[in-house]
Amino acid sequence: MSKKIILTGDRPTGKLHLGHYTGSLKNRVALQNSGLYDMFVMIADQQALTDNAKDPQKIIDSVMEVTLDYLSVGLDPEKTNIFIQSQIPELSELTAYYLNLVTVARLNRNPTVKDEIKQKGFGEGIPAGFFVYPVSQAADITAFKADLVPVGNDQKPMIEQTREIVRSFNNTYGEVLVEPEGMYPEGVEGRMPGIDGKAKMSKSLGNAIYLSDDAETVKKKVMSMYTDPNHIRVEDPGCVENNTVFTYLDAFYKDKEHLEELKAHYRRGGLGDVKLKRLLIDVLEEELAPIRARRKELEENKEYLYEVLRKGSENARKVAAQTLKEVRDAMGIEYFKGL
Ligand code: TRP
Repeated sequence: MSKKIILTGDRPTGKLHLGHYTGSLKNRVALQNSGLYDMFVMIADQQALTDNAKDPQKIIDSVMEVTLDYLSVGLDPEKTNIFIQSQIPELSELTAYYLNLVTVARLNRNPTVKDEIKQKGFGEGIPAGFFVYPVSQAADITAFKADLVPVGNDQKPMIEQTREIVRSFNNTYGEVLVEPEGMYPEGVEGRMPGIDGKAKMSKSLGNAIYLSDDAETVKKKVMSMYTDPNHIRVEDPGCVENNTVFTYLDAFYKDKEHLEELKAHYRRGGLGDVKLKRLLIDVLEEELAPIRARRKELEENKEYLYEVLRKGSENARKVAAQTLKEVRDAMGIEYFKGL
């Protein structure tokens, strides 16, 4: 039996952070190492350009940063196809055909895109390419006939949109495309707060800990981390819920028994924030030090990184080209077939 196909990816708009790590990267490495899947991981530079057209250098630089992040957490180019979206022009052609199967009204109902439009403050100036990116995402997913798409919860509307396009295409032209399933993180790992306690760790909020942060930076960030604002003196009882230090310990500290003791102690009073933060620094260092070391090695070897991306893109392009051929054939626009 052939293996199930996984496709996922990230927009390269900066370095990846702990939210990406717990919410998706760790899981990707586990899926890769299970050996059960054909894996494609895409650096979605074209999607990133939909709202960064005037600042392409940021995206170009981030392609390298994201590649470094991928390889340093353990994505292995021998097992996973890592590729760059813009190097697969077939995706744009698929997008053009899919756009005809989607209405503007439907696109207007995408809650994630709506949120982003508000957040980014486009006003009346929404770039058309940005507005339709869910359709290009459907092209990304279907070009590889992905069965499974592991993504964050904010990407649910994109998967739903993709499934609708697949059904519409297959109904209209015949069964060519595969309807994918989303795969979403559960628990605290899928929703890591920023160091300021805000619901989401994000670059734009300036509250992220990056995989590439050095030890000193991580230490400073943890020391400034949001805890219980009413826990003023050490002997005061403290609140564990919505206490960012505990949320991070939940996600990273392996000694769960000790963690429960710490929570009870904190609630009773007598356990200081600084002590907890010191523990969190050690716990994070254990996880981040090897990643940082691998990143450093890889940084010295840009040629290797380009080679990984070139090969990955070449492989990915073959797969996408095959699907595009089937799509055109089904649509009846392979005019010169057999001539
Ligand atoms: N939209 C995703 C993000 O914001 C990136 C992405 C582009 C993607 N194409 C994809 C994810 C296809 C999964 C599948 O990070």
